[in-house]
Amino acid sequence: MALEFPDLPYGYEALEPLVSGTTLKTHHGRHHRAYVDNANALVLGTDLAGKTLEEIVKRSAQRAATDPAMIAVFNNAAQAWNHAFYWRSLTPRGGREPQGALGRRIAADFGGYAGFAQAFKTAATKLFGSGWAWLVADGEVLRILTTANADTPIVQERLAPLLVVDVWEHAYYLDRQADRAAYVSGVVNHLLDWEFAAENYRRAASASRTAPATGPAPAAAAAA
Ligand SMILES: [Fe+2]
Repeated sequence: MALEFPDLPYGYEALEPLVSGTTLKTHHGRHHRAYVDNANALVLGTDLAGKTLEEIVKRSAQRAATDPAMIAVFNNAAQAWNHAFYWRSLTPRGGREPQGALGRRIAADFGGYAGFAQAFKTAATKLFGSGWAWLVADGEVLRILTTANADTPIVQERLAPLLVVDVWEHAYYLDRQADRAAYVSGVVNHLLDWEFAAENYRRAASASRTAPATGPAPAAAAAA
């Protein structure tokens, strides 16, 4: 079965004035759709056809080092996955701070919500070129990380994404021209969906409790 092009979880005008309907129509209707269409065309007739989007992302990432054809598969499939996750990371009812277990974890790891918001904005704004800014669970700890181009944390087994902000120019240029900082501030202050993040955090925490011990994470091993 071909990969599906998912609907936005809200209307094209729902995030105005921070993200305009014009931007969302182009971003979702043209950019995101093209990634899905390209991924479908690229896997047709290969052993990746019929796999889930997540499987295609992970398998193409593994094979790209030895099979250059997999680079285009990865780029398009990962962009399809990242965009679907990005739409769900935003909500017209955003602007509330995270509560419950996730709120406490953010307070512990970033010295409070304001500390998180400032660090996230800085990371997203300073990322050179095109890419993504993520809040991820890395085992028990939360981390802010950025990825370039189509790269995605789902190819690293120990990382569970909780939220993402797209900082490709196509995400903000029609509304803000080159002012990425204004776009990032608007999104972080008013549009992040902390209920979606909390659900992802619950799932990640439960998976890490039930996962078999596999030794230290690579970063910890390297530091030892
Ligand atoms: Fe995008």
